[in-house]
Amino acid sequence: MDHTVKIKDKVFERLLDASQIEKQIERVACELDAAYANVSQPVVMVVTLSGAMAFAWELSKRISFPVEWVFIKCSSYGSEMQSCGEVALSVVGRCELEGRDVLVIEDIVDSGNTWVSLHNHFMTLLPRTLRIATLSIKREVYDKALQIDFVALELENRFVVGYGLDYDGGGRNLNGIYEFKGV
Ligand code: IMP
Ligand code: MG
Repeated sequence: MDHTVKIKDKVFERLLDASQIEKQIERVACELDAAYANVSQPVVMVVTLSGAMAFAWELSKRISFPVEWVFIKCSSYGSEMQSCGEVALSVVGRCELEGRDVLVIEDIVDSGNTWVSLHNHFMTLLPRTLRIATLSIKREVYDKALQIDFVALELENRFVVGYGLDYDGGGRNLNGIYEFKGV
């Protein structure tokens, strides 16, 4: 069976299918259940748009503590397959985070610039706790000191799409993770 897809000008090949991804999401859900077992208020999940929506939903279905969702748009300036240092943040709607348990939900941690920006921004809002759960990380690229608390998938340093991740706006709804093969 052919597990390649073409998105715009580029060809991607399947690396992980949905069941492989969801097994790891299940594990992260168990870790979160242990970490947030005794919360007295709902945990605020800050979902980074647009890539983390699929992960946020798959995770939310599997946890047993209450959550509220807040959305934030993070845009890093750069070419379509490479981010650069500056990250612009814009929160959708109102969000009061003082004294709350805040859990940022990310699709992928690459350089970590986005997580550093989010962390610095949310710390000024005085949360009780601030952590991150990410669908995936490119561990060999990540070079920041901040801890990455919960990780579903460890990936090689290759460009990937699917399960929320996009290439130039495309490929987010692929029910698996696909890696770049060529043009
Ligand atoms: P960072 O700020 O370098 O950690 O990059 C994080 C953001 O870059 C992610 O939230 C994605 O939006 C994007 N990104 C990084 N690597 C990939 C990839 O392989 N595929 C799709 N998007 C990616
Ligand atoms: Mg993102």
